[in-house]
Amino acid sequence: MDKFVIDGGLPLNGTIATSGAKNSALPALAAALLTAEKVVLHRIPRVRDIRTMERLLVNIGSEMSVDEETVTIETPKILSPEAPYELVKTMRASSLVLGPLVARAGRARVSMPGGCGIGARPINFHLAGLEHLGAKISQEYGYIEAVAPDGLKGGHIVFDRITVTGTEDILMAAVLASGETTIENAAREPEVVDLAAMLTKMGAKIEGAGSSLIKVQGVSQLHGVTHEIIADRIEAGTFIIAGAITGGDLTVTGCVTEHLGALIEKLVDVGVRITAPDACTVRVQPDGGLRPADMTTEEYPGFATDLQAQYMALMTQADGISIISETIFENRFMHAQELMRMGARIRIEGGRAILAGGSRLTGAGVIASDLRASASLVLAAMVAKGETVIDRVYHIDRGYEKIEEKLSAAGARIRRVE
Ligand code: EPZ
Repeated sequence: MDKFVIDGGLPLNGTIATSGAKNSALPALAAALLTAEKVVLHRIPRVRDIRTMERLLVNIGSEMSVDEETVTIETPKILSPEAPYELVKTMRASSLVLGPLVARAGRARVSMPGGCGIGARPINFHLAGLEHLGAKISQEYGYIEAVAPDGLKGGHIVFDRITVTGTEDILMAAVLASGETTIENAAREPEVVDLAAMLTKMGAKIEGAGSSLIKVQGVSQLHGVTHEIIADRIEAGTFIIAGAITGGDLTVTGCVTEHLGALIEKLVDVGVRITAPDACTVRVQPDGGLRPADMTTEEYPGFATDLQAQYMALMTQADGISIISETIFENRFMHAQELMRMGARIRIEGGRAILAGGSRLTGAGVIASDLRASASLVLAAMVAKGETVIDRVYHIDRGYEKIEEKLSAAGARIRRVE
C-alpha cells in the first residue's frame, strides 16, 4: 500500500491547476446510460472512483474509450442492468446508475451500499423517489431490485432532507418518465446544475436546477452529447487551504470562484488575503497570523462538509479557540485523532470539534481513514516540524489527481512510497 512521506515547514508558492470535478464526473458517466448514442465527456479526472464507475458501465454494456481526460461512451443496449457488490462496496456512488437503468431498461439490480467511515449513508430517499415515479422496489440477498416494466411516470417528490446523489439519481430517472416530475427540497450543488446542463443538451426538459425546486417534463428518448465537466471545487478548496496553512503565495487556476464563496468568506474571517483576478482564479497570500473562526458545515451554498477536515487542519494553526460543527455526516471527525497524534489539541463532543489553536505540529506516522481526512493530514504534515508518514493513501487517490505532483510543483516536500 502506497504511503506519502512529507517533510514539513515550507510555504507553497506558485500556481496549481484544478482538475475536473469527481462529483460531477460520476453522475455524468451514469447519465451516459440514458441514451444509445455517443456521449463524449471532457475534463474527467483520472482518479480511482472514476475508474470504478467506468468498469461498472462496461459491466452494464457500455463501449468505452479513454483518451487522457476525455471519455467516450456508447451504450447501444443495456446488457446487464446490474451494479455488483464487488464494485459498489468500493464506491457508494455506484448507486447513481439506479435511476438511469430503471429509466432506460425498466429494471435495475444494485447492491445495497454497506456502511461508510463517515456515516450510515443509506439510500432510502433514492428508493422512495423511484417509488414515487412508479418503480416497484424490493430487496433481497443484499441487492435492491427496482422494476418499472411499463416505464416510469412523473410524480411529486419531496426529499425529507437534501441529498446530492439522491437529487441526481431521481433527475436521471425523471427525464425519461412520462409526464411531469417535481423535486422539492432538491440539492442545489453545482454538480447537480452541471448534470442538468448535460441532460438538457441531450434533449431533456428541466427547469430550476440550482434551486430547491426542480421541474422535469419527461421525453421519450435522449440523444448523444459532448460535455465538459465543471472544475472540482473541493480539490480547488483543498489547495486554497494548503496555501493558507503554509503561509505561501499560491494561485489556484481553472476553478470557479463563485462555487467557493463560503470558503473564501471564511478564510477572509480567518485573516487570509484572498484575491480573485478573474472568475476562475483564486490567489492566497498571508496577511499576518491566522485568527480562529467557528464553522458549521451546510448544504450548498453553505460551507462544504468535504472541506471540513482540511479546515480543521487550518484551525490547529489559528491563534485561539474555534468550534467546528459537522451537520451533514454523523461520523466525520476521524482525522481529529490523527491530527492529535501530530500535536493538535482537539476535543470532540458529538457533532462538534473544539480546537485550541496555536499548536506546533510535529511529524508522525498517521493513517488516512477516508478521502477528505487524508487531505487534511497532508495539509497538517506540510506545516509540521519534521517528517510525517501517511499510510493508506489509496483513500486520497480516490478523489485527487496526482496530488503529490501538484503540491511538489508548488514547493512541498512530498513523495509517494510504493
Ligand atoms: C455527495 O454524497 C458527495 N458524493 C459527497 O462527497 C458529499 O460529502 C455529500 O454529497 C454532501 O455534500 C458524491 O457526489 C459522489 P447526501 P451523497 O445524499 O449524495 C443522508 C467526497 O468526499 N441521506 O447529500 O451520498 C446522508 O446519510 C464525498 O467526495 C439519507 O439519510 O450525500 C447524509 O447524512 C463524500 N438517505 C445526508 O443525507 C438518503 O437516501 C446528505 O447526504 C440519502 C442521504
